[in-house]
Amino acid sequence: MTIRHFIDLWPMERADLRAILDEAHRMKRARNGWPKGRIDPGAPLDGHTLAMIFEKSSTRTRFSFDMAMRQLGGSSITATSSDMQLGRGESIEDTARVLSRYVDAVMIRANDHADIEAFAEWSSVPVINGLSDRSHPCQIMADLMTLEEAGLTLQGARIAWVGDGNNVCASLIHAAAKFGFSLAIGTPGRYAPDEDDLEIAAEMQARIELFDNAEDAVAGADVVIADTFVSMGDTDADVRLEILEPFAVTEDLMALADPGAKFLHCLPAHRGEEVDAEVIDGPQSLVFDEAENRLHAQKAILRWCLQK
Ligand code: CP
Ligand code: NVA
Repeated sequence: MTIRHFIDLWPMERADLRAILDEAHRMKRARNGWPKGRIDPGAPLDGHTLAMIFEKSSTRTRFSFDMAMRQLGGSSITATSSDMQLGRGESIEDTARVLSRYVDAVMIRANDHADIEAFAEWSSVPVINGLSDRSHPCQIMADLMTLEEAGLTLQGARIAWVGDGNNVCASLIHAAAKFGFSLAIGTPGRYAPDEDDLEIAAEMQARIELFDNAEDAVAGADVVIADTFVSMGDTDADVRLEILEPFAVTEDLMALADPGAKFLHCLPAHRGEEVDAEVIDGPQSLVFDEAENRLHAQKAILRWCLQK
């Protein structure tokens, strides 16, 4: 049986991504106010354990994956890479082969995307990308779930990304083709999206437009998405804050979008940098539903990976 890794959205089948979102909506609705630690009917991942390896900090990914496993009737084990022999130079190959003998799936948050791919190559259990320098597919599944929950039809929707063309932006680019929304990206040239991601999108006939300013990207949008100007691992914080400052999501910028436009941000946020408090804490913002939906979307991802 093929091992179902969840490393990037672009190689995934559209039908599988659609089924994951449908299942996430269904499972969320079915819980309807239950205590958060209660196990879902049928305990679909009973007896299953997820290992989580973190090379970088995390709040949402760590807690939402742990709670996802609990709600599915399974369990999780968390370690930072520096707790492991991996941090002392043990190879990814050996680590992957060993963990595959203990657990049923592995989630990795890595500095280098290639390390997740290498791990998957040697793993005999599914590997899930919990964020890398290149992409953050679990985040975008939660974002899309949140937009659907708010009544948006993804096919034909106009989504704008403003700020840094970073890892989260890359997964949004991958999703554009799969879900049929148009994506307007406003970034300074220096922090434009990776050419490889734009090529992937072009091959998949995604509707992507690039702008060198925030205003044109946001004009008429149904959704405005922002992220931190300085991601984990970025070493040029001062330069970034200066160059990206005109790309901050202010109330004035939001006013250029559709009047009913929604605002998303994967969090953690820096109020007064990439977004003003009036926007992220205002009526158009869905950021806490978005954070909650990491849990529900990842439950569906885990079930898809484990074919349960
Ligand atoms: N959005 C997100 O991935 O948050 P964490 O870094 O807290 O996991
Ligand atoms: N782009 C951010 C996302 C954090 C969840 C980072 O990589 O740090």
